[in-house]
Amino acid sequence: MAKVRVGIIGCGNIAGLNESDPYRQKPCTHAGAYSRRQDVEIVGCCDSDAGRGRDFAQRFSIPCAVTKIGQLLDLRPDVVSICVPYRAHRRIVQQVAGHQNRPAKILLEKPIAHSGKDAQAVADICRENGVRLYVNNRRLSPFYRKLRRMVREDFHDEVIAATAWCSSGMHTIGIHMVDLLCSICGEPLWVSAQKEAAQIERLPYSHNFTPDDDRYRAVLGYARDFEAVIINTARTRFTYFEVEFLFPNGRIRAVDNGRTLIVQKMGRPGKSTLSYRLAAEKQVAVQDKPLFQLVIDEVLTGDYDTSAVRGEEALKSYRVIEAMRRSARTQRKVSL
Ligand SMILES: NC(=O)c1ccc[n+]([C@@H]2O[C@H](COP(=O)([O-])OP(=O)(O)OC[C@H]3O[C@@H](n4cnc5c(N)ncnc54)[C@H](O)[C@@H]3O)[C@@H](O)[C@H]2O)c1
Repeated sequence: MAKVRVGIIGCGNIAGLNESDPYRQKPCTHAGAYSRRQDVEIVGCCDSDAGRGRDFAQRFSIPCAVTKIGQLLDLRPDVVSICVPYRAHRRIVQQVAGHQNRPAKILLEKPIAHSGKDAQAVADICRENGVRLYVNNRRLSPFYRKLRRMVREDFHDEVIAATAWCSSGMHTIGIHMVDLLCSICGEPLWVSAQKEAAQIERLPYSHNFTPDDDRYRAVLGYARDFEAVIINTARTRFTYFEVEFLFPNGRIRAVDNGRTLIVQKMGRPGKSTLSYRLAAEKQVAVQDKPLFQLVIDEVLTGDYDTSAVRGEEALKSYRVIEAMRRSARTQRKVSL
């Protein structure tokens, strides 16, 4: 059977170089995950920096490294991964999806874009050209799927409140938290946000962070009479990604940057009013599987119409960030 032909645009860390990071569970990149599949051939890679492209091709035994997107598309890839800085997403997606040799599928790195207008344009360009757009968020991670299942099955979706913390900026890490909340709670009805004022130039744990990547403290209001609070800050010196859900009879905490899930349920109350309390914390085991492997499997063989990582889902999440931006600017609650 013919192999699926893959092209990669942007030959940096998330495209492949992170495979050399001993702290990461493998595969942890596009090239790393594609390379493990027998039914895939990476036919070419493209980077505006010729040297980076050449080194990348050598590292992953890719036969062709080019500097122009047209040259990559001349190789007729079926799937193209786009791993360039997110400010270039709209322009690159336009070039790829608008080309006569357009691929059937694009796997775009998160965030979908850097403005609401560009995010909508990215989704429209793909739809109008018949290209299936996927965005690499964390929805397929076994950890967050388990969290979602517990909210649904153990606590019957009766969320009273959610409190979420995350470091870096909204485009670098915050989008993952917004997307996670959207995948569990749905889209909020309204957003009220304040922008973090501190000027932060660089973060040691996030090389994609830039000083203009806004951070927000935001309240998200939902139809079922509950609110979620997101505190996104670049003022910690460590990377941080935690969320807690509160229910009438317990709570779940996802801590340790997506590695530890802790549940507490109400104990059986006795005669004393003091017995109406939560039982001891229990750590929930999660069957782990590398997220990148799941994402690439989904793009290659999943059902697009029901896919959790299709572009429309990423667009919905981005609308929340756009609403935060508008709310912080106008100092008003913004309806979605
Ligand atoms: N899903 C995740 O958890 C996750 C994690 C890290 C980064 N990302 C996203 O991936 C993207 C890339 O991040 P990275 O850390 O790999 O960055 P990087 O700087 O390591 O790599 C980007 C590469 O793109 C190349 N490039 C830039 N503009 C280009 C263009 N117009 N055409 C071709 N090549 C171009 C650069 O030369 C560089 O080699 C960002 O948008 C980031 O938000 C996602």
